[in-house]
Amino acid sequence: MTAAPSKLLENHKKIERNVSLLALFAFVTVAIGGIIEVAPLFWIDNTIEKVKGMRPYTPLEQAGRDIYVREGCYLCHSQMIRPFRDEVERYGHYSLAAESMYDHPFQWGSKRTGPDLARVGGRYSDEWHVQHLTDPRSVVPESVMPTYAFLSKRELSAGDVAAELTALRRVGVPYSKEDIVRAEEDLRAQADPDAKAGDLLKRYPKAQVRDFDGDPSRLTEMDALVAYLQVLGTMVDVNGAAAQEELAREKGR
Ligand code: HEC
Repeated sequence: MTAAPSKLLENHKKIERNVSLLALFAFVTVAIGGIIEVAPLFWIDNTIEKVKGMRPYTPLEQAGRDIYVREGCYLCHSQMIRPFRDEVERYGHYSLAAESMYDHPFQWGSKRTGPDLARVGGRYSDEWHVQHLTDPRSVVPESVMPTYAFLSKRELSAGDVAAELTALRRVGVPYSKEDIVRAEEDLRAQADPDAKAGDLLKRYPKAQVRDFDGDPSRLTEMDALVAYLQVLGTMVDVNGAAAQEELAREKGR
């Protein structure tokens, strides 16, 4: 009975007294753990569960998102509702991973000087947003948000929209060839209440088509930013999607 353990100890002594051998075995042991964690990711197509309703941003929304990033709105606003009761009661259903799958880079953030914006779409009117961005203290007297009045004065120069969509397509956003060819046209059509937007709506279901900044004669940066704010959190029927998720989990048990 005593022979076996002492032999084991002898062998172990060899490992402990030889630095190279110890390093080799330590490396092998850690590598096994690493492989078990990492390898499955190579065989699954996607780590994000798909949910119904998600679509890529329209060119106008994407342009608004670029302004959001340019102006550093993310320094004060997060876009991720965490699954805690206080957050869900204040902001609505917690954010799903799929809801930011077309965001490059995502805007989750961790700093909340202002409220979370993940579900701000549809909560206020366009007029409210324009007024608030133009002079935050005129609607919320205690606000510390900076004024962005200049956005209404600046024509939207979205740069090369087609090139931007092409870049996003390369990183996995499913824009079609037609989306890219018609990007410039789509951008203008969405902010023009007189435009025939039928085709835009076919390619971007439920896109909101109207003049957003209160001045139909011009396409401004304000139009794009408000279009972006108004789509946030509105693509997925969250209660439906969450119900699906819950069902899937129940089935898995
Ligand atoms: C210095 C921090 C700061 C920056 C930068 C900032 N905000 Fe805010 N924001 C706030 C604060 C504080 C509030 C809450 C008071 C208010 O409504 O004005 C707020 C409120 C809001 C609201 C209303 C949200 C709600 O649910 O009531 C929106 C929409 C908004 N901000 C959009 C933006 C956008 C778009 C930008 C960038 C162009 C931006 N903010 C930049 C601080 C900031």
